[in-house]
Amino acid sequence: MKERIEAISKELEQLKADSVAAAEELRIRFLGKKGEVTQLFEEFRTIAPEYKKEFGRRLNELKNLATARIEEIKAAAEEANNSASASKTDLTVPGDPMNLGSRHPVSIARKDILDIFNRLGYTVAEGPEIEDDYHVFEALNFPVDHPAREMQDTFFISSGINPILLRTHTSSVQVRSMEKMELPIRVVCPGRVFRNEAISARAHCIFHQVEGLYIDQNVTFADMKQAILMFAKEMFGPETQIRMRPSYFPFTEPSAEVDVSCNICKGKGCNICKGTGWLEILGCGMVDPNVLEASGIDSKKYSGFAFGMGVERIAMLKWQVKDLRNYFENDLRFLKEFEANL
Ligand code: PHE
Repeated sequence: MKERIEAISKELEQLKADSVAAAEELRIRFLGKKGEVTQLFEEFRTIAPEYKKEFGRRLNELKNLATARIEEIKAAAEEANNSASASKTDLTVPGDPMNLGSRHPVSIARKDILDIFNRLGYTVAEGPEIEDDYHVFEALNFPVDHPAREMQDTFFISSGINPILLRTHTSSVQVRSMEKMELPIRVVCPGRVFRNEAISARAHCIFHQVEGLYIDQNVTFADMKQAILMFAKEMFGPETQIRMRPSYFPFTEPSAEVDVSCNICKGKGCNICKGTGWLEILGCGMVDPNVLEASGIDSKKYSGFAFGMGVERIAMLKWQVKDLRNYFENDLRFLKEFEANL
């Protein structure tokens, strides 16, 4: 028995297998039910008791050796197998198509708006989304009891003398621009704004605005009208007309709301423009002298105009998006419709 154990050990040391199946055969040959090692265990039962201790130990060692060696051989065969199949990879097989992302319609519209005003000499100014009452309301001539300052319209973060809140418009960035920029000022202020509104097809509690501000000597209402007309034609097409309706904002005087001729029915009247031929796109006005003075600008020497628009609204009118909620749902079928507008 001693010789057999030694012979098997020697053989095990030199074993090799060139496939996983061959390694499995080796396992059966040594460790299977009728395997060589298993047989030795059978014979062990008949051995004289005084040898049992020694041979028991040797046999166990042999079994451990056999198990370890065969595992090793199997792993080596598996690895050889894997690298062989790797080299068989057909490099000419076409790859899986890669789905390219595209820009979100709100980003496309925002960029279009900013590009148009950049061409008119406006630079981009940005400011914080979390603001104080001073920059969102007070410096903009909002009276203390103005409804926008109520909890149901504005998200407040703190209360007190100058509460912290989420800005409800990017006019706050215009205030910050007036505080720190040299005159003349010509800025467009894009950004997210927040209003405490119920979410519907036409309203959301978060949306994007681009507001603009131009301050210089002798800036007139006619300059404002011309800038907005140029913007409307660039955005909605060269035949676009605008009309201005008197309106009210605390920070501008006089103020107006601007409509563009409906780009779908060309002004004839359809269900998008509700038969009027006009679509409202923005609010604007001549900056109220109180607002200029609050930011330290001499209102006798300087005048200016401001305007503000909702980016989602412009995108809705341009691409006939019917429900504002589409912008926030990340439905690929919706987003893919804008691939061509990159
Ligand atoms: N800030 C106004 C709003 O959010 C828009 C606006 C800007 C109106 C500038 C007039 C002038 O509704």
